[in-house]
Amino acid sequence: MHAAHAEHSRRMFLKTAAVGVGAAVAPWSVLAHAPDSRIRVGIVGCGGRGTGAAAQALAADPGVVIWSMSDAFADRIEQSIKQLLGLEQKNRVEVPQERRHVGIGSIDALLAEVDVVLLCSPPGFRPEQLAKSVAAGKHIFCEKPVCVDAPGYRSVLESVRAARAKGLSLVSGFCWRSSSPERAMFAQIHAGTLGEVVGVHSTYLTSPLGVRARQPGWSDLDFQLRNWQHFTWLSGDHLVEQAVHSVDKIHWAMGGRLPTRCVGMGSRFTHDPLPERGDVYDNFAVTYEYENGPRCVLMCRQQPDCYNINDDWINGTKGYGWVNGWGPTHWIKDYSGSLLWSYPKDGPTPNMYQVEHDTLFAAIRSGRPVNEGEWMANSCMMAIMGRMSAYSGQAITWEEATQSTESLRPADLSGTLAVPPVPRPGRRPVPQAPKV
Ligand SMILES: NC(=O)c1ccc[n+]([C@@H]2O[C@H](COP(=O)([O-])OP(=O)(O)OC[C@H]3O[C@@H](n4cnc5c(N)ncnc54)[C@H](O)[C@@H]3O)[C@@H](O)[C@H]2O)c1
Repeated sequence: MHAAHAEHSRRMFLKTAAVGVGAAVAPWSVLAHAPDSRIRVGIVGCGGRGTGAAAQALAADPGVVIWSMSDAFADRIEQSIKQLLGLEQKNRVEVPQERRHVGIGSIDALLAEVDVVLLCSPPGFRPEQLAKSVAAGKHIFCEKPVCVDAPGYRSVLESVRAARAKGLSLVSGFCWRSSSPERAMFAQIHAGTLGEVVGVHSTYLTSPLGVRARQPGWSDLDFQLRNWQHFTWLSGDHLVEQAVHSVDKIHWAMGGRLPTRCVGMGSRFTHDPLPERGDVYDNFAVTYEYENGPRCVLMCRQQPDCYNINDDWINGTKGYGWVNGWGPTHWIKDYSGSLLWSYPKDGPTPNMYQVEHDTLFAAIRSGRPVNEGEWMANSCMMAIMGRMSAYSGQAITWEEATQSTESLRPADLSGTLAVPPVPRPGRRPVPQAPKV
């Protein structure tokens, strides 16, 4: 096939694949040997997760080519390429120098070159990057969290709707939603095996994340980007960045119901004066309140030498269930202690990160778009709401939180960027919220 014709056909195929549910598209088996069946994938944020997601994309579909990369720093791109060239699929890693884009706005150049984008940079950039990806008509893998503040949340919801209208696939990086034991457990919960859910208690108690010491020549922005998990404008704080997985499981267990209000608390105890530790807390506890009684509690911590656990305890009117994904433990008992259900010991446990990409590329190939946008955005907003309450020391309603106009991104990223003070509860109003 002539190269120009092949390119046209390939673009037409991807365009057709993006048209909508049930669009008539030739199945993968028909296209497998055609040169136009390649899917060009771009990575935005070429760190640990971006590189992992790229490997999973390569494994998901034999037509995937890693084609373009964008990162704030050139060395992260080089490191990532080195790792990808160690894979069995290294022949499908085709990123020459001119497709290695450096800078915090370098997604723009990448979007002009690819069919699918993997959004894996710090979440402070995600809403804008998602909006640009949808506007450019790309299929998307979108790591969690997807926003760090309410304006970001509202922007993500708009992008999610626009992606649906355009027939684009949008698969979320909330990986537990792609884990077989969790899927089976939450299906049991939704089927009523433990009755109606009246409360969830979730934990994400773990150790502090690492830091990168300042190097000569780094600007303030470089320093904060290299330590992005420790700066709230970039990460949302660890409740939003890490424990959001647990918040998502609360949201899942509650069948997508949203809390009416929450009361959060948190602080920073670790006596570690390093500026690399930014302005984030090292512990939070949030109670989410629901209409007609249910309450869900999240505890999260990143402190050294403490008890660590990451689990979910779900109470229903007929019984209770325990999820410990890393255990792995997934069971439901009645209140006399008799087992009602458990995930079979020999049940399938495919790699959940791989399942995400299998889902995305199968959707693209079949022309039946998947869009996981709303619940993904709502789980993140629940976590943001908990942080708002903890930082301010005030109770906050869902309406107040979602309507907040507080944007965390500093107005000017080009000059001096001081390390912000750690928020003091009781001294900070609920962000721009109307009076209850
Ligand atoms: N689902 C999961 O289990 C899981 C696991 C780890 C990380 N994550 C998420 O993945 C994302 C990335 O985390 P990570 O562990 O890979 O971090 P990382 O620091 O290893 O990688 C992030 C990369 O993004 C780059 N970057 C910064 N600003 C950018 C911009 N504006 N445009 C492009 N690149 C930019 C950084 O330089 C860095 O290389 C985060 O949202 C994190 O929460 C999810």
